[in-house]
Amino acid sequence: MHKKLWIPGPTEVKEDVLQAQTKPLVGHRSKEFTALYDSVLTQLRSFFKTEQHVLVLTASGTIFMDVTGRNLIRPGKKALCCINGSFSDRMYKAVVGCGKEADKLEVEWGKGITVDMIKEKLEQSEYDVLTICWNETSTGVKADLQAIGDLLKFYPDTLLVVDAVSAMAGDLLWPDEMGTDLIFASTQKCFALPPGLAVGIVSQKALDRTQEVPDRGLYTDLKAIMDYYGKKQQTPSTPNISLLYAMDHKLKQMLEEGAENIYKRHEEMAEYTHKWALEKGFGLFAEEGFRSVTVTTVANKLGKDVGELNKALAEKGFVIANGYGKLKDQTFRIGHMGEHTLDDLKELLAAIEEIWNL
Ligand SMILES: Cc1ncc(COP(=O)(O)O)c(C=O)c1O
Repeated sequence: MHKKLWIPGPTEVKEDVLQAQTKPLVGHRSKEFTALYDSVLTQLRSFFKTEQHVLVLTASGTIFMDVTGRNLIRPGKKALCCINGSFSDRMYKAVVGCGKEADKLEVEWGKGITVDMIKEKLEQSEYDVLTICWNETSTGVKADLQAIGDLLKFYPDTLLVVDAVSAMAGDLLWPDEMGTDLIFASTQKCFALPPGLAVGIVSQKALDRTQEVPDRGLYTDLKAIMDYYGKKQQTPSTPNISLLYAMDHKLKQMLEEGAENIYKRHEEMAEYTHKWALEKGFGLFAEEGFRSVTVTTVANKLGKDVGELNKALAEKGFVIANGYGKLKDQTFRIGHMGEHTLDDLKELLAAIEEIWNL
Protein backbone atom coordinates (compact mmCIF):
# COMPACT_ATOMS: atom_id res chain seq x y z
CA MET A 1 0.00 0.00 0.00
CA HIS A 2 1.22 3.50 -0.78
CA LYS A 3 1.94 5.47 2.38
CA LYS A 4 0.86 9.10 2.05
CA LEU A 5 3.93 11.21 2.69
CA TRP A 6 3.48 13.52 5.68
CA ILE A 7 7.23 13.90 5.95
CA PRO A 8 8.83 17.27 5.14
CA GLY A 9 9.80 16.15 1.65
CA PRO A 10 9.69 14.33 -0.61
CA THR A 11 5.99 14.91 -0.50
CA GLU A 12 2.94 13.58 -2.37
CA VAL A 13 2.98 13.94 -6.15
CA LYS A 14 -0.34 13.64 -7.98
CA GLU A 15 -0.78 10.94 -10.59
CA ASP A 16 -1.30 13.37 -13.48
CA VAL A 17 1.93 15.17 -12.53
CA LEU A 18 3.83 11.86 -12.41
CA GLN A 19 2.33 10.95 -15.78
CA ALA A 20 3.45 14.22 -17.34
CA GLN A 21 7.01 12.89 -17.07
CA THR A 22 6.32 10.07 -19.49
CA LYS A 23 6.00 12.20 -22.62
CA PRO A 24 8.51 11.31 -25.36
CA LEU A 25 11.78 13.19 -25.01
CA VAL A 26 13.00 16.05 -27.17
CA GLY A 27 16.63 17.06 -27.71
CA HIS A 28 17.87 19.65 -25.24
CA ARG A 29 19.16 21.76 -28.15
CA SER A 30 15.82 21.73 -29.97
CA LYS A 31 13.22 24.47 -30.43
CA GLU A 32 10.80 22.25 -28.51
CA PHE A 33 13.05 22.26 -25.48
CA THR A 34 13.50 26.04 -25.64
CA ALA A 35 9.71 26.39 -25.65
CA LEU A 36 9.37 24.03 -22.67
CA TYR A 37 12.06 25.81 -20.62
CA ASP A 38 10.58 29.18 -21.54
CA SER A 39 7.15 28.04 -20.41
CA VAL A 40 8.54 26.82 -17.06
CA LEU A 41 10.48 30.03 -16.40
CA THR A 42 7.63 32.30 -17.51
CA GLN A 43 5.24 30.53 -15.16
CA LEU A 44 7.71 30.71 -12.28
CA ARG A 45 8.20 34.46 -12.86
CA SER A 46 4.48 34.95 -12.92
CA PHE A 47 3.82 32.81 -9.81
CA PHE A 48 6.39 34.76 -7.77
CA LYS A 49 5.58 38.08 -9.49
CA THR A 50 9.28 38.63 -10.07
CA GLU A 51 11.36 40.61 -12.53
CA GLN A 52 14.50 38.85 -11.34
CA HIS A 53 16.37 36.10 -13.18
CA VAL A 54 14.89 32.66 -12.70
CA LEU A 55 16.71 29.41 -13.40
CA VAL A 56 16.09 25.71 -12.94
CA LEU A 57 19.09 23.46 -12.43
CA THR A 58 19.15 19.71 -12.71
CA ALA A 59 20.30 19.00 -9.18
CA SER A 60 18.75 19.13 -5.73
CA GLY A 61 18.51 22.44 -3.90
CA THR A 62 21.83 21.95 -2.12
CA ILE A 63 23.58 22.91 -5.36
CA PHE A 64 22.68 26.53 -4.66
CA MET A 65 24.73 26.39 -1.45
CA ASP A 66 27.79 25.63 -3.58
CA VAL A 67 26.64 28.26 -6.09
CA THR A 68 26.67 30.76 -3.22
CA GLY A 69 30.14 29.81 -2.06
CA ARG A 70 31.52 29.74 -5.60
CA ASN A 71 29.92 32.88 -7.08
CA LEU A 72 28.94 35.49 -4.57
CA ILE A 73 31.84 36.00 -2.15
CA ARG A 74 34.76 38.00 -3.48
CA PRO A 75 38.40 37.17 -2.66
CA GLY A 76 39.29 38.54 0.77
CA LYS A 77 35.62 39.03 1.69
CA LYS A 78 33.39 36.84 3.80
CA ALA A 79 29.87 35.62 4.48
CA LEU A 80 27.71 35.83 7.58
CA CYS A 81 25.84 32.56 8.03
CA CYS A 82 22.80 32.48 10.30
CA ILE A 83 22.62 29.04 11.92
CA ASN A 84 19.73 27.63 13.93
CA GLY A 85 19.48 24.07 12.70
CA SER A 86 20.96 21.43 10.47
CA PHE A 87 20.27 22.97 7.05
CA SER A 88 21.50 26.45 7.93
CA ASP A 89 24.64 24.76 9.24
CA ARG A 90 24.94 22.94 5.92
CA MET A 91 25.03 26.31 4.14
CA TYR A 92 27.91 27.41 6.37
CA LYS A 93 29.75 24.17 5.56
CA ALA A 94 29.19 24.70 1.83
CA VAL A 95 30.57 28.25 1.92
CA VAL A 96 33.64 27.17 3.88
CA GLY A 97 33.95 24.08 1.67
CA CYS A 98 34.22 26.39 -1.35
CA GLY A 99 37.28 27.91 0.31
CA LYS A 100 35.51 31.08 1.49
CA GLU A 101 35.59 32.66 4.91
CA ALA A 102 32.38 32.79 6.94
CA ASP A 103 31.34 34.02 10.36
CA LYS A 104 28.54 32.30 12.24
CA LEU A 105 25.52 33.92 13.83
CA GLU A 106 24.36 30.92 15.78
CA VAL A 107 21.43 30.42 18.13
CA GLU A 108 20.04 27.35 19.82
CA TRP A 109 17.98 24.95 17.65
CA GLY A 110 14.31 25.86 17.89
CA LYS A 111 14.99 29.57 18.26
CA GLY A 112 14.53 32.21 15.60
CA ILE A 113 17.21 34.64 14.44
CA THR A 114 16.02 38.21 14.83
CA VAL A 115 16.70 41.28 12.74
CA ASP A 116 18.43 42.88 15.73
CA MET A 117 20.87 39.99 16.01
CA ILE A 118 21.71 40.32 12.32
CA LYS A 119 22.01 44.10 12.54
CA GLU A 120 24.47 43.84 15.40
CA LYS A 121 26.72 41.56 13.31
CA LEU A 122 26.44 43.72 10.19
CA GLU A 123 27.51 46.75 12.23
CA GLN A 124 30.63 44.93 13.44
CA SER A 125 31.99 43.74 10.11
CA GLU A 126 31.53 43.91 6.34
CA TYR A 127 29.94 40.93 4.62
CA ASP A 128 29.53 40.06 0.95
CA VAL A 129 26.70 37.67 1.72
CA LEU A 130 24.20 36.97 4.48
CA THR A 131 22.80 33.44 4.43
CA ILE A 132 19.57 32.48 6.15
CA CYS A 133 17.35 29.43 6.08
CA TRP A 134 13.80 30.71 5.67
CA ASN A 135 12.28 27.48 6.94
CA GLU A 136 14.54 25.27 9.05
CA THR A 137 13.10 21.85 8.27
CA SER A 138 15.02 20.30 11.16
CA THR A 139 13.28 22.45 13.77
CA GLY A 140 10.17 23.97 12.16
CA VAL A 141 11.54 27.49 12.67
CA LYS A 142 10.72 30.16 10.11
CA ALA A 143 12.65 33.41 9.64
CA ASP A 144 11.01 36.79 9.09
CA LEU A 145 12.25 37.21 5.55
CA GLN A 146 10.54 40.52 4.83
CA ALA A 147 12.10 42.11 7.93
CA ILE A 148 15.55 40.74 7.10
CA GLY A 149 15.20 41.93 3.50
CA ASP A 150 14.17 45.38 4.75
CA LEU A 151 17.24 45.53 6.98
CA LEU A 152 19.59 44.53 4.17
CA LYS A 153 18.41 47.47 2.08
CA PHE A 154 20.69 49.51 4.38
CA TYR A 155 23.66 47.24 3.55
CA PRO A 156 23.76 47.28 -0.26
CA ASP A 157 27.05 45.34 -0.50
CA THR A 158 25.62 42.39 1.41
CA LEU A 159 23.67 39.99 -0.76
CA LEU A 160 20.72 38.20 0.85
CA VAL A 161 20.94 34.46 0.13
CA VAL A 162 17.98 32.41 1.28
CA ASP A 163 17.53 28.67 1.54
CA ALA A 164 13.82 28.34 0.83
CA VAL A 165 13.99 24.61 0.08
CA SER A 166 11.04 23.66 2.27
CA ALA A 167 9.05 26.91 1.99
CA MET A 168 9.07 28.23 -1.58
CA ALA A 169 5.66 27.68 -3.22
CA GLY A 170 4.07 26.93 0.17
CA ASP A 171 4.83 30.01 2.23
CA LEU A 172 4.19 33.38 0.63
CA LEU A 173 7.17 34.63 -1.35
CA TRP A 174 7.58 37.89 -3.25
CA PRO A 175 11.34 38.00 -3.92
CA ASP A 176 11.30 41.53 -5.38
CA GLU A 177 9.51 43.06 -2.39
CA MET A 178 11.48 41.04 0.11
CA GLY A 179 14.75 42.03 -1.56
CA THR A 180 16.30 38.58 -1.86
CA ASP A 181 19.38 38.24 -4.08
CA LEU A 182 19.44 34.47 -4.37
CA ILE A 183 16.57 32.37 -3.09
CA PHE A 184 16.37 28.70 -3.93
CA ALA A 185 14.35 25.53 -3.45
CA SER A 186 14.09 21.88 -4.44
CA THR A 187 11.15 20.44 -6.37
CA GLN A 188 10.29 17.63 -3.92
CA LYS A 189 8.90 19.94 -1.23
CA CYS A 190 6.13 22.51 -1.69
CA PHE A 191 6.20 22.25 -5.48
CA ALA A 192 4.90 18.69 -4.98
CA LEU A 193 7.09 17.29 -7.75
CA PRO A 194 9.61 14.45 -7.69
CA PRO A 195 13.13 15.38 -6.50
CA GLY A 196 15.77 16.34 -9.04
CA LEU A 197 15.37 20.00 -9.95
CA ALA A 198 16.47 23.12 -8.11
CA VAL A 199 14.77 26.49 -8.62
CA GLY A 200 16.75 29.70 -8.13
CA ILE A 201 15.66 33.33 -8.26
CA VAL A 202 18.62 35.65 -8.72
CA SER A 203 18.88 39.43 -8.58
CA GLN A 204 20.88 41.44 -11.13
CA LYS A 205 23.08 42.57 -8.23
CA ALA A 206 23.97 38.95 -7.45
CA LEU A 207 24.64 38.24 -11.10
CA ASP A 208 26.91 41.30 -11.35
CA ARG A 209 28.81 40.12 -8.29
CA THR A 210 29.84 36.90 -10.08
CA GLN A 211 32.10 38.94 -12.39
CA GLU A 212 34.30 39.84 -9.43
CA VAL A 213 34.61 36.27 -8.22
CA PRO A 214 37.13 33.87 -9.82
CA ASP A 215 37.03 30.03 -9.67
CA ARG A 216 33.29 29.65 -9.96
CA GLY A 217 33.59 26.01 -10.95
CA LEU A 218 31.87 24.63 -14.04
CA TYR A 219 28.45 23.20 -13.13
CA THR A 220 28.12 25.89 -10.45
CA ASP A 221 29.19 28.87 -12.57
CA LEU A 222 26.16 31.14 -12.30
CA LYS A 223 27.51 33.63 -14.81
CA ALA A 224 28.12 30.91 -17.42
CA ILE A 225 24.66 29.44 -16.81
CA MET A 226 22.97 32.81 -17.24
CA ASP A 227 25.16 33.78 -20.24
CA TYR A 228 24.20 30.53 -21.94
CA TYR A 229 20.56 31.15 -21.19
CA GLY A 230 20.89 34.71 -22.56
CA LYS A 231 22.30 33.40 -25.86
CA LYS A 232 20.31 30.20 -26.37
CA GLN A 233 17.45 30.20 -23.82
CA GLN A 234 18.65 26.74 -22.82
CA THR A 235 20.81 25.17 -20.12
CA PRO A 236 24.56 24.61 -20.59
CA SER A 237 24.36 20.87 -19.85
CA THR A 238 21.64 18.26 -20.37
CA PRO A 239 18.70 18.95 -18.07
CA ASN A 240 16.14 16.52 -16.68
CA ILE A 241 13.64 17.10 -19.48
CA SER A 242 11.09 14.61 -18.14
CA LEU A 243 10.92 16.40 -14.83
CA LEU A 244 10.62 19.74 -16.60
CA TYR A 245 7.53 18.38 -18.37
CA ALA A 246 6.06 17.59 -14.97
CA MET A 247 7.03 21.01 -13.64
CA ASP A 248 5.46 22.77 -16.59
CA HIS A 249 2.24 20.82 -15.96
CA LYS A 250 2.30 21.44 -12.19
CA LEU A 251 2.99 25.17 -12.52
CA LYS A 252 -0.20 25.58 -14.53
CA GLN A 253 -2.13 24.09 -11.62
CA MET A 254 -0.26 26.28 -9.13
CA LEU A 255 -1.09 29.41 -11.11
CA GLU A 256 -4.73 28.39 -11.18
CA GLU A 257 -4.84 27.94 -7.41
CA GLY A 258 -2.80 31.12 -6.91
CA ALA A 259 0.11 31.84 -4.57
CA GLU A 260 -2.07 33.48 -1.90
CA ASN A 261 -4.54 30.57 -1.81
CA ILE A 262 -1.71 28.06 -1.63
CA TYR A 263 -0.25 29.99 1.26
CA LYS A 264 -3.62 30.12 3.04
CA ARG A 265 -4.03 26.36 2.65
CA HIS A 266 -0.59 25.83 4.23
CA GLU A 267 -1.24 28.34 7.01
CA GLU A 268 -4.54 26.64 7.83
CA MET A 269 -2.86 23.24 8.08
CA ALA A 270 -0.07 24.65 10.26
CA GLU A 271 -2.51 26.35 12.64
CA TYR A 272 -4.58 23.19 12.93
CA THR A 273 -1.53 21.05 13.64
CA HIS A 274 -0.19 23.50 16.23
CA LYS A 275 -3.51 23.58 18.05
CA TRP A 276 -3.80 19.81 17.91
CA ALA A 277 -0.29 19.27 19.31
CA LEU A 278 -0.92 21.60 22.23
CA GLU A 279 -4.39 20.25 23.00
CA LYS A 280 -3.11 16.68 23.06
CA GLY A 281 -0.41 17.56 25.59
CA PHE A 282 2.58 17.76 23.27
CA GLY A 283 4.52 20.98 22.77
CA LEU A 284 5.82 22.91 19.81
CA PHE A 285 9.58 22.87 19.39
CA ALA A 286 9.81 26.14 17.45
CA GLU A 287 9.76 29.38 19.38
CA GLU A 288 6.48 31.28 19.21
CA GLY A 289 6.49 33.92 16.47
CA PHE A 290 8.88 31.84 14.34
CA ARG A 291 6.71 28.87 13.42
CA SER A 292 6.78 27.34 9.96
CA VAL A 293 3.64 26.98 7.86
CA THR A 294 4.96 23.95 5.96
CA VAL A 295 6.31 21.69 8.71
CA THR A 296 5.44 21.35 12.38
CA THR A 297 8.08 20.02 14.74
CA VAL A 298 6.15 18.63 17.68
CA ALA A 299 7.96 18.47 21.04
CA ASN A 300 7.35 14.90 22.14
CA LYS A 301 6.49 15.78 25.74
CA LEU A 302 4.43 12.61 26.15
CA GLY A 303 7.47 10.47 25.32
CA LYS A 304 5.66 8.53 22.59
CA ASP A 305 7.46 5.99 20.38
CA VAL A 306 7.37 7.47 16.87
CA GLY A 307 8.97 4.37 15.28
CA GLU A 308 6.11 2.22 16.59
CA LEU A 309 3.59 4.87 15.51
CA ASN A 310 4.90 4.80 11.95
CA LYS A 311 4.58 1.00 11.85
CA ALA A 312 0.91 1.30 12.78
CA LEU A 313 0.38 4.32 10.54
CA ALA A 314 1.82 2.37 7.60
CA GLU A 315 -1.09 -0.04 7.85
CA LYS A 316 -3.45 2.89 7.55
CA GLY A 317 -1.49 4.33 4.62
CA PHE A 318 0.43 7.22 6.21
CA VAL A 319 3.97 8.08 7.26
CA ILE A 320 5.27 11.00 9.34
CA ALA A 321 8.88 11.94 10.19
CA ASN A 322 10.74 11.49 13.43
CA GLY A 323 12.92 14.25 14.82
CA TYR A 324 15.90 15.38 12.78
CA GLY A 325 19.40 14.33 13.87
CA LYS A 326 19.95 15.13 17.52
CA LEU A 327 16.21 15.85 17.93
CA LYS A 328 15.28 12.29 16.89
CA ASP A 329 13.64 11.23 20.14
CA GLN A 330 12.76 14.65 21.46
CA THR A 331 10.49 15.62 18.56
CA PHE A 332 8.55 14.34 15.58
CA ARG A 333 7.65 16.21 12.42
CA ILE A 334 4.55 16.52 10.31
CA GLY A 335 5.22 17.89 6.85
CA HIS A 336 2.02 19.60 5.72
CA MET A 337 3.23 20.86 2.39
CA GLY A 338 2.54 20.55 -1.30
CA GLU A 339 -0.72 18.89 -2.29
CA HIS A 340 -2.08 18.27 1.21
CA THR A 341 -5.32 19.86 2.41
CA LEU A 342 -6.89 20.42 5.80
CA ASP A 343 -9.25 17.49 5.23
CA ASP A 344 -6.31 15.16 4.50
CA LEU A 345 -4.60 16.45 7.64
CA LYS A 346 -7.65 15.71 9.77
CA GLU A 347 -7.57 12.11 8.52
CA LEU A 348 -3.90 11.78 9.47
CA LEU A 349 -4.37 13.27 12.92
CA ALA A 350 -7.41 11.06 13.57
CA ALA A 351 -5.30 8.02 12.69
CA ILE A 352 -2.58 9.14 15.13
CA GLU A 353 -5.17 9.73 17.86
CA GLU A 354 -6.57 6.25 17.36
CA ILE A 355 -3.16 4.56 17.50
CA TRP A 356 -1.94 6.52 20.52
CA ASN A 357 -5.29 6.67 22.30
CA LEU A 358 -5.15 10.43 22.55
C1 LIG B 1 15.81 23.72 4.55
C2 LIG B 1 16.49 22.72 3.69
N1 LIG B 1 17.60 23.09 3.04
C3 LIG B 1 18.25 22.24 2.24
C4 LIG B 1 17.81 20.95 2.07
C5 LIG B 1 18.52 20.04 1.15
O1 LIG B 1 17.73 19.89 0.02
P1 LIG B 1 18.09 18.85 -1.12
O2 LIG B 1 18.22 17.52 -0.44
O3 LIG B 1 16.92 18.92 -2.04
O4 LIG B 1 19.36 19.30 -1.73
C6 LIG B 1 16.68 20.50 2.74
C7 LIG B 1 16.21 19.13 2.62
O5 LIG B 1 15.38 18.65 3.36
C8 LIG B 1 15.98 21.43 3.56
O6 LIG B 1 14.87 21.06 4.20
